[in-house]
Amino acid sequence: MLMQDFIRQYGLRMSYEDFLAGVDCFIAEMEAGLKGGKSSMKMLPTYLSLEKLSQRETRVIAMDAGGTNLRITLVNMRENKTPETEYLEVYPMPGAKDEIAAEAFFDTLAEYLAPIVDKSGRIGFCFSYPCEMRADLDGKILHMTKEVKIRGAEGLYVGEELKKALARRGLRHDHTVIVLNDTVATLLGGKACAKGREYDSYIGLILGTGINCAYVEKNTNITKEARLAASGGTCLINMESGGYDKFPRTAIDEKFDGKTMNPGKQLLEKMISGVYQGSLLLEYVRAAAGAGCFSDGFCERLSAVENLQSKEVDDFCYYPYGTGRLAALTEDSEQDKAALYQLMDAFFDRAAILSIMKLAAIMKKTGTGQNPLKPVCISAEGSTFYKSKLLHKKINYYLTAFLEERMHVCAEFMRAENATISGTSLAALQG
Ligand code: BGC
Repeated sequence: MLMQDFIRQYGLRMSYEDFLAGVDCFIAEMEAGLKGGKSSMKMLPTYLSLEKLSQRETRVIAMDAGGTNLRITLVNMRENKTPETEYLEVYPMPGAKDEIAAEAFFDTLAEYLAPIVDKSGRIGFCFSYPCEMRADLDGKILHMTKEVKIRGAEGLYVGEELKKALARRGLRHDHTVIVLNDTVATLLGGKACAKGREYDSYIGLILGTGINCAYVEKNTNITKEARLAASGGTCLINMESGGYDKFPRTAIDEKFDGKTMNPGKQLLEKMISGVYQGSLLLEYVRAAAGAGCFSDGFCERLSAVENLQSKEVDDFCYYPYGTGRLAALTEDSEQDKAALYQLMDAFFDRAAILSIMKLAAIMKKTGTGQNPLKPVCISAEGSTFYKSKLLHKKINYYLTAFLEERMHVCAEFMRAENATISGTSLAALQG
């Protein structure tokens, strides 16, 4: 079978009409989540609002627990100046490789915090997993994602557990701990960097080990929280968009999902994010090989490949004649190289359209970005967004081709310096 027929058979190429229908489905799911109805997106209110951000000159501790790394920093917040990082340590995220019990996880954090724990009474904790926020800005862990394994984490309040662990070690533990999602931190970091620019609104986009978005919603629309809904103003929403499950999925996507730690969950994340990209693409390559899209030599070598990292996919995009594993699979056939590239191109085309679809849905739902003089600022973070050659190029392309030229809405990506840490530091001053 020709690769282009395989791609067509699996519907990897989406038209503008498919995209528009997807945007409307996405909006319906956002609305259901805000009402507290059945939705695959949690749409979590954060109790943080751009209108009420307070600033002051002080030092704060900012922690960032992501899918791969854990960063511990001490940041000096200065009026009208970029926050200054006075201390920075990076550790592998506990639980990313081997499972860890929740108590041991928080004990490890306390150990890492020990050198700076006395330096400030305020801790901003960017915890990049679904957390239901309380009005006092502590967050309850709903579940873990990105294949990170912290046993017994569900239901625990991050700030409370951190303080208990500090107390167990005999360290200062009277801090105010503000918990926030990385999308929210990135949005705040973007806003802090936007001085002098007029933006209609802000979106925080993460496309890294995991995927997700945060945006600004009117309180009156958040009807699942009666108190918020009755108040004026706006609130940042952590959408948990990685959970979205209304896209058409292929039999290959389904087969892959069955092999992950949490089948049936985080379905959009599994089609796009860095932690899954390599392994999902490998499933597609295997299926294409089974359908006769590659040479016999390729298929024989492929049978020895047990896993594939996203980085190796990118290596092939940059160095198809290099020394990477995918280059080696196709070493004796120019036709195999072309077919593999064609498959990757379609695979990333779908990922790009799905990524752009949720941005379009946010803008359509909130009615923002209609004036090109005041675009929406999309503060974007994540290794996949910046490093994935094909995905990055295609996301930028669809932002222009679909959003600007056809939907007539305007948005700009912003790469704010140190967005997560500066947003987390800013959040540490709230509450
Ligand atoms: C988590 C989100 C997070 C995203 C990006 C997802 O797996 O559920 O909370 O924002 O990854 O890090």
